[in-house]
Amino acid sequence: MTSNEAARARAGGMIGKVKRALGPAGVFLEGFIREPRMVGSVIPSSMNTIDRMLTPVDWEACDVFVEYGPGVGTFCRPILDRLRRDAKLIAIDTNPLFIDYLKRTIPDSRFSPVLGSAADVESIVKAHGADHADYVVSGLPFSTLPDGVGPAIAAATHRVIRPGGAFLVYQFSARARDFMEPHFARIDDGYAPWNIPPCKLFWGWKA
Ligand SMILES: C[S@@+](CC[C@H](N)C(=O)[O-])C[C@H]1O[C@@H](n2cnc3c(N)ncnc32)[C@H](O)[C@@H]1O
Repeated sequence: MTSNEAARARAGGMIGKVKRALGPAGVFLEGFIREPRMVGSVIPSSMNTIDRMLTPVDWEACDVFVEYGPGVGTFCRPILDRLRRDAKLIAIDTNPLFIDYLKRTIPDSRFSPVLGSAADVESIVKAHGADHADYVVSGLPFSTLPDGVGPAIAAATHRVIRPGGAFLVYQFSARARDFMEPHFARIDDGYAPWNIPPCKLFWGWKA
């Protein structure tokens, strides 16, 4: 082994140790370093943001819950805690690092982590034996997604949600609302200051 190779191996070993010490936050940080524009944040959402975002959900009336951009599962666990025993959670992420991590760490028969894009939500929901979603929650960084992806995701989401269901969106900028407005006649909004950074909350209701 050359001295350069030895230095690289030492650095790799150090990074591995730091990642293990950080736990899920380390996996999230690695995902951000690999795909900064797609991940859009270095720290997962706070519990306060999660509680506020999920408060309006009618869990008794929820058969299919979809999550876009689950990352390391910060929302998945609280959703599964609230979800009926016979309902399902489909979590869609473009990053294989996150999907592999979710498969390894959340063993729950109601839970399906899917490697793919939120733009394909309709075919993904169908492939899981359902014809609609009751609720969709999104942590996607709408403002940094490639051109055209945000509008396509908002349109597909509106089509897949049943009447009376909702699209729940949290984002650091208010731009997500621009993507929701052409489709959702009623959008409630809120603000989560106890998040790093603080974020905007939107609930778009399908008439
Ligand atoms: C800000 S992170 C959200 C992480 C997590 N939900 C949280 O609250 O801590 C954004 C996530 O969106 C994912 N993502 C980006 N574009 C996507 C797309 N088109 N479809 C599905 N997931 C996507 C990224 O890989 C990343 O996991």
